Amino acid sequence: MSKFLNHNFSNQRALIRVDFNVPLNAAYEITDDNRMRATLPTIKKILADGGSVILMSHLGRPKEGPTEKYSLKHLVKHLSQLLGGVEVLFADDCIGASAVNMSAALQPGQVLLLENLRFYKEEEKGDTAFAEKLSKLGDVYVNDAFGTAHRAHASTAVIAQFFSGDKKMFGTVMDGEVASAEKVMHQSEKPFTAIIGGAKVSDKILIIENLLERATDIIIGGGMAYTFMKAQGGMIGNSLCEDDRLETAVELLKKAEAKGVCIHLPSDSVIADAFSAEANTSTAPSNYIPDGWMGLDIGANACEQFANCIKRSKTILWNGPMGVFEMAKYRRAR
Ligand code: 3PG
Ligand code: MG
Repeated sequence: MSKFLNHNFSNQRALIRVDFNVPLNAAYEITDDNRMRATLPTIKKILADGGSVILMSHLGRPKEGPTEKYSLKHLVKHLSQLLGGVEVLFADDCIGASAVNMSAALQPGQVLLLENLRFYKEEEKGDTAFAEKLSKLGDVYVNDAFGTAHRAHASTAVIAQFFSGDKKMFGTVMDGEVASAEKVMHQSEKPFTAIIGGAKVSDKILIIENLLERATDIIIGGGMAYTFMKAQGGMIGNSLCEDDRLETAVELLKKAEAKGVCIHLPSDSVIADAFSAEANTSTAPSNYIPDGWMGLDIGANACEQFANCIKRSKTILWNGPMGVFEMAKYRRAR
């Protein structure tokens, strides 16, 4: 059994780093709550043990300190509903008096959500003093922020040094993801298809390089596909692109070819004239997107192309979305 499941949290305050970086619409409504739902087993086990929970997370990429748009207070009501009506207290600062006093007063069964960690630049810098302040808020540290596990930030990595070995552990999300990754990395049956999506090539380079040693097929979709398209001379209109990663994309394609790994890029895309749920949409070849338009999802042909590859696979690893799934127009199954 995992360290987390073995631990009895009775009368302990568990400081949990979660990834509640969920998409919000203009009215601050959560448009996809999967990341919140995923952490419920972790939170519920601690409460059931008779412990209390202090949740900390980032939301978005605030540049200049506290910003309404990036406040985690927008999540309080929904989190309470997901927890079956348990009241969720909110501290309007992740360090400082409100966080210290509210966490100190927490009773077994209570849940406290802290304000956005990234309202302090120290979080992303991995500042040790900031991490130490955070560490004082709980008796035990639980890292369950799988979506942020590739960032060596104060609350994800640096903080761990302030807890002894028996007082720090992964939660159920992290445990589950690590177990799955280990399984596909060490016991994958071929054909092994990896589906890699999301916005940022820069975040996925290491994963792709690692997968080139193991996978037979790598499907690349989502925003990052357009960096690959442009790197091969395609026209991508206003689609997302990391111009400083074009060479990396070419290198990855070359390495894949040398290793005999088949890279599948979406042949066509759902395109839109704005990054919006209300935008006008059309379809276009992914390497022939007109100016003023951007690819926001894989197209019907790409769906078929990817489905065919997936159907003949014996192992599938999926990391990242193929489109802007938080808007209904860009998550349709075709
Ligand atoms: C994500 O959504 O990818 C994670 O929450 C990490 O966010 P970041 O890319 O802004 O660090
Ligand atoms: Mg990410």
